[in-house]
Amino acid sequence: MKAYLTRRYLFSASHRLHCVEMSDAENKAVYGKCNNPHGHGHNYSVEVTVAGRVDPRTGMVCNLVDLDSFVQEKILERFDHQNLNTLAEFQATVPTTENLCVEVFDILERDFHHAEIEKVRIEETMLNSFEYAGGREIRY
Ligand code: NI
Repeated sequence: MKAYLTRRYLFSASHRLHCVEMSDAENKAVYGKCNNPHGHGHNYSVEVTVAGRVDPRTGMVCNLVDLDSFVQEKILERFDHQNLNTLAEFQATVPTTENLCVEVFDILERDFHHAEIEKVRIEETMLNSFEYAGGREIRY
């Protein structure tokens, strides 16, 4: 029996979409106003989905206290109110929200051991959201 738990977290950060392998003109053509040299900010909403069997004793897939404290320490404190372009993880990749999903998923998968990490979904705006499941197909 496998069950899923999704929890939502909020943080704010700025970024500039700019690929060092492209010319300034290409960057402008590809990223448009998101290539503005001064960057811009988003209020990101991150949904973390974990999966596992329901513990017969606790009745839970994962204790939210464990998930919340992990996300607070390893993700929110890392990314909240930062310029994503300045962080080590975005020196070789562009801080798009696709890549942010991958980073958040990889941090969880590497170090969170209380449940399996199923999926990370990030809403960047009311109109955009991105999902990553470690290369697995996402089941709906
Ligand atoms: Ni943006």
